[in-house]
Amino acid sequence: MEACHAGELAELDKVCFAVPWSENLFLEEAQSRIARYFLAVEGDKIIGYSGVWLVADEGQITNIAVLPEFRKKGVASRLLERLIEEAADAKRIVLEVRESNCAAIALYEKFGFKNAGMRKNFYREPTENAIIMIRGET
Ligand SMILES: CC(C)(COP(=O)(O)OP(=O)(O)OC[C@H]1O[C@@H](n2cnc3c(N)ncnc32)[C@H](O)[C@@H]1OP(=O)(O)O)[C@@H](O)C(=O)NCCC(=O)NCCS
Repeated sequence: MEACHAGELAELDKVCFAVPWSENLFLEEAQSRIARYFLAVEGDKIIGYSGVWLVADEGQITNIAVLPEFRKKGVASRLLERLIEEAADAKRIVLEVRESNCAAIALYEKFGFKNAGMRKNFYREPTENAIIMIRGET
């Protein structure tokens, strides 16, 4: 991801999340030294992205999303594969996911992430618990 992608990613987020990230937030991520983002593109259109922060020996997944009309075609799997490759030196990769988000939970389980706990009322709009998932050393 580069700074020039921030606007399009903010639009994509509006379609994919109840609480989307702003263009400014994507700009900050594009400039962050610890962040790595990967884009899935079709032609010149961004159809999905994944992101991870690399902090010490841990990778923290920030987000992964695919536009609805491109889902169930393996796009998120490819984005997650690339992210895992980038975090190859990390001892573990961690993430939070809404407990009702069966699609995302199934995606992460497919890549070896395991349920490692819960954060109560972690999300807003709607308020919901987060499942913590970890791949690697716990
Ligand atoms: C979660 C999301 C990224 C999956 O993207 P995708 O490109 O459709 O995923 P893939 O096609 O690569 O699917 C990979 C696996 O995920 C699981 N999966 C994907 N969509 C699913 C669904 N609707 N129901 C159940 N499992 C699903 C399956 O295990 C699938 O493997 P399979 O094809 O062998 O069955 C997409 O649904 C999305 O953008 N959702 C909104 C944003 C979001 O919630 N992001 C997660 C934040 S933590």
